Amino acid sequence: MNNNDIKTSENKKILITGGAGFIGSHVVRRFVRSYPEYQIFNLDALTYAGNLENLKDIENETNYSFVKGDITDAPFIDQLFENHKFDGVIHLAAESHVDRSIHDPLAFAKTNILGTMILLNAFKTTWEGNWKGKRFYHISTDEVYGSLGDTGFFTEETAYDPNSPYSASKASSDHFVRAYGETYGMPYVITNCSNNYGPNHFPEKLIPLFINNIINNKPLPVYGDGNYTRDWLYVIDHAIAIDLVFHKGKNQETYNIGGFNEWKNIDLVKLLCRLMDNKLGREEGTSERLITYVKDRPGHDLRYAIDATKINKELGWKPSVTFEEGLDKTIDWYLDNEEWLQGVTSGAYQQYYKKQYKD
Ligand code: NAD
Ligand code: DAU
Repeated sequence: MNNNDIKTSENKKILITGGAGFIGSHVVRRFVRSYPEYQIFNLDALTYAGNLENLKDIENETNYSFVKGDITDAPFIDQLFENHKFDGVIHLAAESHVDRSIHDPLAFAKTNILGTMILLNAFKTTWEGNWKGKRFYHISTDEVYGSLGDTGFFTEETAYDPNSPYSASKASSDHFVRAYGETYGMPYVITNCSNNYGPNHFPEKLIPLFINNIINNKPLPVYGDGNYTRDWLYVIDHAIAIDLVFHKGKNQETYNIGGFNEWKNIDLVKLLCRLMDNKLGREEGTSERLITYVKDRPGHDLRYAIDATKINKELGWKPSVTFEEGLDKTIDWYLDNEEWLQGVTSGAYQQYYKKQYKD
């Protein structure tokens, strides 16, 4: 079962779920542009996090179709697979924000666990006994490994130890993907990636939230003492890794993806403040004065750090963009796309913000 590369020269129907979201939109664009012989179907429910504006530049390409639908709607998903017989699935659709999972864990179980199982079932029904050249690719997170102390890295052998409802739901869906591989012989790959940043990132996550707040001179709510560490990766480098793993990864394997780029939140926030002051022509120190320490996130994981040696050695992947370049491009994108930012921060976003930050 191992080593059966997915051939790029063949006509294939690929289903990408969650393609209107942050990472998904970069993956859809890459696949639509790089593989004209593929038919790319983007299935997305367009929740608060899904936005077709993210894909305006490719929406009329002949090898691209958008399907609005919910991965938890089993009859709909079964019919979709029956109609299209997708050769490959790249599954990104999920509830993705840890803070929201603390408010509403059931929504995360429904989408991330049940939704994944419904897709697995439909893929199994379509191809069981005829798996050659087929692949189910689950996009997962480093948060399934839990929290590190001050030293050490997550490897592919690190035991799962999730702490938030979000990471528990992603861990569970990973287990189901593996179980379908073991039980039914379904060819799968899983990648566990660190924190992404870049264009089109919904401003509920640290970097885009703080960029938006700096633009609007609003407080920058740092959780706890700010001494939490994350490993940041530019989103397009994640999309490149996903392309590589989808085509060249070994079946029934997991690959960790990371940026070799650890930052304590408070250091990252101060860097962002300096860069933004510079871009906005504000006096140095202006944005730093917006930093406000707020109540900590419950169950806050201290540190994530990825050992990405396996994907580097086996598939030759490494990040192509330095953090300085990536942050610079990201800030420029938000400053150039004020309309996008205004569009996603009106309406329901205001209610979420009030609830989360007691604003
Ligand atoms: P996102 O929240 O920006 O996008 C999620 C997308 O899924 C949205 O377009 C949304 O409309 C869609 N969606 C949600 N529920 C759905 C449903 N029931 N049916 C169909 N579509 C639905 O998320 P993201 O940050 O782009 O993350 C994408 C994937 O990558 C997730 O699986 C996440 O766990 C994983 N991941 C994210 C990061 C990160 O730093 N953002 C890092 C590692 C892994
Ligand atoms: O590690 C991969 C994960 O990264 C993905 O699986 C998740 O989908 C993605 O949301 C992200 O999770 P985090 O919880 O690490 O990201 P977030 O941007 O929410 O928070 C980053 C750090 O910043 C974390 O330590 C919490 C802190 N933080 C976050 C927010 C939103 C703050 O201090 N203040 C804030 O307002």
